[in-house]
Amino acid sequence: MIEKTDFLIIGSGIAGLSYALKVAQFGKVTIVTKKQIQKTNTALAQGGVAAVFSKIDSFDLHIKDTLDAGDGLCNKEVVEMVVKDGPARIKELVKQGANFNKQGDGKYDFSLGQEGGHSAKRIVYAHDLTGKEIEETLVKNVERNENITILEDHIAVNLITFSSSIRSGLVVTQHENICCGAYVLNNKTGKIETHYAGITLLATGGASKVYLYTSNPDIATGDGIAMAYRAGASVANLEFVQFHPTCLFHPQAKNFLISEAVRGEGAVLIDSNGRRFMADYTPDKELACRDKVARAIDSELKKTGADAVFLDITHKDPDFVKNRFPNIYSKCLEYGIDMTKDPIPVVPAAHYMCGGVATDLNGKTDIQRLYAVGETACTGLHGANRLASNSLLEALVYSHRAYQSSIEEFKSIGNKVTVTLDQWDETDTTDSDEAIVVSHNWDEIRRLMWNYVGIVRSDKRLQRAFRRIQNIQQEINEYYWGFKVTSDLIELRNLATVAELIIQSALMRKESRGLHYNIGYPQKDDLNWLKPTILKKRL
Ligand code: SIN
Repeated sequence: MIEKTDFLIIGSGIAGLSYALKVAQFGKVTIVTKKQIQKTNTALAQGGVAAVFSKIDSFDLHIKDTLDAGDGLCNKEVVEMVVKDGPARIKELVKQGANFNKQGDGKYDFSLGQEGGHSAKRIVYAHDLTGKEIEETLVKNVERNENITILEDHIAVNLITFSSSIRSGLVVTQHENICCGAYVLNNKTGKIETHYAGITLLATGGASKVYLYTSNPDIATGDGIAMAYRAGASVANLEFVQFHPTCLFHPQAKNFLISEAVRGEGAVLIDSNGRRFMADYTPDKELACRDKVARAIDSELKKTGADAVFLDITHKDPDFVKNRFPNIYSKCLEYGIDMTKDPIPVVPAAHYMCGGVATDLNGKTDIQRLYAVGETACTGLHGANRLASNSLLEALVYSHRAYQSSIEEFKSIGNKVTVTLDQWDETDTTDSDEAIVVSHNWDEIRRLMWNYVGIVRSDKRLQRAFRRIQNIQQEINEYYWGFKVTSDLIELRNLATVAELIIQSALMRKESRGLHYNIGYPQKDDLNWLKPTILKKRL
């Protein structure tokens, strides 16, 4: 059976939901989400949304900080557009019901936080649960909207595309790749459904699960990036993986982030002897950009052989700490760490993909009727390194831009195009009797990426990783076409694709810039590399 909708949205974080609420005024919307609607990376975001609200801040300063962090690779036009549109989008969230911490009575008189790389206080936050506040607000609105259908426990398998000829007179001058929906596995029935859509939006978040240690939840498997690449879209800058400097180090803690806002409120980094070490690496110390802080910690760990360094905020008033960081405080306490008295053991972990599906200023990919927004996309905002708290901002601004553009595109499609869609073909496939192949390859990819494609890279390690991932890819492909598709297998295939793309991009960039550090090329090479790395599959 073929399901039809006007707007198909894959992913239910801030990008997908804010887009859904807007396009729902113009047509039927279907949201496909892998687990429950609120199980997203957005819901885990602690820090906040960067935007200019303070009288002693300015757009120019926010633009400059973003460009400085991006280390020469940001698209200035995009940076200016996002920074200037930010306050309006945050006000929209407040109108939808989001509650951010305030310092006065005015509706937008926000209490503003500080984070690394920002020259002013400009982080709008809801304690240390900003993402949860935003996600819950959007979910409430989406659930009330009669034009929106939410498909939980559904995972997209592949985009559906077709090629159309562009003619000039009788001559075919070009073939256009057009997206008209996706094949989606319904995890409740085990069946693959065909979803036809006028416009498709990828908002599947990031891919940091490709690394052994990550701040991200299990769902961050790069599904959107992998599907778009397979369908022929360009992907860009995938070598720029942001490692967050401070994830909780504890054998039982999986993926728990200690927000950069803790450093913003004065926490310092110390080694196991209590020595504050960041001044050895950069004059901005704990409030330097993340690439510098993560590399400094990595170097300390390698030098001393220690398992972790420590984040110390014990000099601050305990009531302030508990009130400002209620979530981090109680989570640490669960593991026997009272952050008002004890320094918190922390290590860097993969956190955010600065690269992704290449888009224009409206979130359009180079496949017609396919948009990508949020961490899935590479818009040009982050360049070689993302400034803290610019990601929720980017998702808000771009979902608005994508909404405006896709409405125009949707109107122009009308009922002009009718496509014959093939249903998913499962003949000749059987249930797998070797689930171990999936779990083994999953572990191997994540370990290999951590060891060979991590914070500090070398060509030798990258080449080794490339050889391994090609073997793994081959195994996965054989398995994929022989057995019935499961969500684990879909995620593994996507994870392997994104791993290969990260390695290929890292091998291409023969310099060190922003988040990409290669010991063989320790300097920046502006002459040859002041440009994005772009990969596109030959179809
Ligand atoms: C954090 O709270 O440190 C994460 C915020 C971000 O990644 O922008």
